[in-house]
Amino acid sequence: CGIVGYVGHREAAPVLVEGLRRLEYRGYDSAGLALVHRGRLKVHKAAVRVRELNDLVGKAQGTVGIAHTRWATHGEVTDVNAHPHTDTSGRFAVVHNGIVENADELRGKLQANGVTLVSETDTEALAHMIAAAAQQHESLEGAVRAVLRAVEGTYGLVVLDARRPGELVVARNGSPIVLGVGEGEMFIASDVSALVRHTQRVVYLEDGEIATVRAGDFQTSGRAETVELTDDDYELGEYSDFMRKEMAEQPEAVRRALRGRLDTRFATAHLGGLRLDPRDLREVRRVKFLGCGTAYYAGQIGANLVEELARIPADAEPASEFRYRNPVVDSDTLYVAISQSGETLDTLAAVQELKRKGGNVIGAVNVVGSAVARECGSGVFLHAGPEVSVASTKAFTNMTVSFAMLALWLGRIRDLSAAHGARLVSALQALPEQIESVLRTDQEVADIAGKYASARHMFFIGRVRGWPVAREGAQKLKEISYVHAEAYQAAELKHGPLALIDPEMPSVVVVPRDELLAKNIGTIEQIKARGGPVIAVTNAELPAGLADAELRVPANEPELDPILLTVPLQMLAYHVAAALGRDIDKPRNLAKSVTVE
Ligand code: G6P
Repeated sequence: CGIVGYVGHREAAPVLVEGLRRLEYRGYDSAGLALVHRGRLKVHKAAVRVRELNDLVGKAQGTVGIAHTRWATHGEVTDVNAHPHTDTSGRFAVVHNGIVENADELRGKLQANGVTLVSETDTEALAHMIAAAAQQHESLEGAVRAVLRAVEGTYGLVVLDARRPGELVVARNGSPIVLGVGEGEMFIASDVSALVRHTQRVVYLEDGEIATVRAGDFQTSGRAETVELTDDDYELGEYSDFMRKEMAEQPEAVRRALRGRLDTRFATAHLGGLRLDPRDLREVRRVKFLGCGTAYYAGQIGANLVEELARIPADAEPASEFRYRNPVVDSDTLYVAISQSGETLDTLAAVQELKRKGGNVIGAVNVVGSAVARECGSGVFLHAGPEVSVASTKAFTNMTVSFAMLALWLGRIRDLSAAHGARLVSALQALPEQIESVLRTDQEVADIAGKYASARHMFFIGRVRGWPVAREGAQKLKEISYVHAEAYQAAELKHGPLALIDPEMPSVVVVPRDELLAKNIGTIEQIKARGGPVIAVTNAELPAGLADAELRVPANEPELDPILLTVPLQMLAYHVAAALGRDIDKPRNLAKSVTVE
């Protein structure tokens, strides 16, 4: 979900709607805002996209307000469940990200006291509780503080009181809140992207912090810092959608990730942000990558790279599983928490659990200043630039490139030869141009996508290096095109799923030009023998006519194949989704950052 707040001298409504437009990628089930005008609270909200909210709001007046764009957790997608939520008297309004875990209990208590709840949300309970607490407290902040003591769960919230139009109260626990400092005006948002149009001076609220924000005054424990992002970083420009733009930005993003980190003299890489001594790095006995969704698949590629190049046992696990299964945490394992946003709650919770148990955890994060980055304290920034499309592309690529550098570094302080290191350094340097050449095959990919877009189901098949590529390819297709896709390890096909192969079930087979090439050709033959169409994604010369279609990428060092082989699968998913007329940047039911459990 996304939150925006404003207190100052301008009309708040346009500022709020514009902010919501920026945050819409974080949730787009419903949208709403509340303003105070002449001492009265005015709320406009509905199960609509932000552009329709704009029509609803019309010329609503007021120089203070709060707004929200929702990704439903408690309660269906309806007008009444949209935020802001108010108390019965209509004096207090609340917007909230996160989940109140004891919402049922709190709602029950309110009902027992005769309060009528109009929505099914956890947030509405907060509004009624704040109204009750305000009777006993001098300040709004005091009332909010008292209410939050009874709340279990996560929140980023902003509270507006119609009788105090000069201030907003903000609170954070788990879900981010950032203040934007203006000249005699203050902006509030759950994400800097909504602020940079107005100011580059921001303050990140700390977890557990509650603060009062007035036009010319705020008090927080954090200091104002300057962000380099500007509004242009979030503009579509010549592109039809952000996914396309972000795919096209990959060569430049990779260049940024590599800049200053490759060492040709010693044939290695240095990741300055790790703040780990080579001596400590040499002590590492295992590496474990943790992340959710696309970040988890990038972690799988990372684990393979670490095993191959550094010969250290490594694996990847969804952060969401790790945090709930009481993991054994040992001190000679290096844990890598991966997150584009740095906000994914499951990943953050995994980091917190690791720290409690004395684990050595570093971050691989795109958003500087985000919760995961701060919690880890050390790590590698991805430098992919802002990623807006829900389906991650350039952040994924930069994750894998960063892990290749980490693996190279770990390898070179162990057994990896200088010659092998040097080959990898050049191979990494070649990636940006190679990605450019893959992007130039756009029309070919679009044609293939057009041919297969009517499939109801697709397999994505890979083995070893190709397996995480297949998983990420399937993920991309599912999330933006809604075509059912299942990833499978090549050799496991014959143990069950081969039964599903028929002419209606295309398989995308990942075929790197490595020592397993013959095995993968065998897999394609098995599929073809059952009448299944095959799209090969490959940098090898395949026997003529073997595959029905080929997505080609240039050859590189085999360890880096997964990085290049994923790019055409992003493009394939994109073009299937486009052919089916999907809303590519805002796929149904999903959100860019999942700050709830
Ligand atoms: C959500 C997004 C995915 C993303 C995942 C992890 O589910 O829809 O695209 O891969 O979160 O996000 P993170 O910001 O932690 O990388």
